[in-house]
Amino acid sequence: MITIYLYSLFFLMIVLMGIIGMVAYFLFNGIVSVPWVRTPTRHTSEMLTLAKLKPGERVIDFGAGDGTIIIQAVKEFGAIGYGIERLSLLVWWSRWLAKLNGVSDRTTFVKGDMFAKTPPPADVITSYLFSEINSKLEPVLIKHYPSGTRVVARVFSFPGLKHIRSQVIDSDTIHLYEIP
Ligand SMILES: C[S@@+](CC[C@H](N)C(=O)[O-])C[C@H]1O[C@@H](n2cnc3c(N)ncnc32)[C@H](O)[C@@H]1O
Repeated sequence: MITIYLYSLFFLMIVLMGIIGMVAYFLFNGIVSVPWVRTPTRHTSEMLTLAKLKPGERVIDFGAGDGTIIIQAVKEFGAIGYGIERLSLLVWWSRWLAKLNGVSDRTTFVKGDMFAKTPPPADVITSYLFSEINSKLEPVLIKHYPSGTRVVARVFSFPGLKHIRSQVIDSDTIHLYEIP
């Protein structure tokens, strides 16, 4: 009886330590960078509709989180998706979700710092980052993407890009831009 009790206690401690470790992992990321906050499915749909994403077009999400935008872009719009994310755990999870959703062959999830890699070609760019990250990303986008490439941003704007229109969805504003 006492052995079962000790085993259960040990198991509970392992689970608890795992949860604390996970919270610390995401909390630390939120302090040094942008915290991971998932864009809801309905917002993603509106963002990609606003960008007029077409089948076969390439979409890239800078700071892809769990890959939600990319997976939806492929499933719902028939796009080809690429996500870059700094947290390994989220990259693994994105790949797993892509597999579960049957879109592994049309998605690429890369672990890394978006500022340390040359971004791949894209027709549509998505982002849900903070203003200070956007102002660092803006010159990178202008340098690497041709004029007319669509950029759709949730909440935080890109003041140096060509603003096309904004739309309010629930309490969020989504912005559509083009590379000037
Ligand atoms: C607010 S979340 C958005 C996640 C996803 N795009 C979505 O809308 O559901 C921002 C993500 O950007 C990632 N991130 C922040 N800075 C980054 C960087 N320099 N390189 C790659 N990813 C970054 C964070 O780890 C976080 O997962």
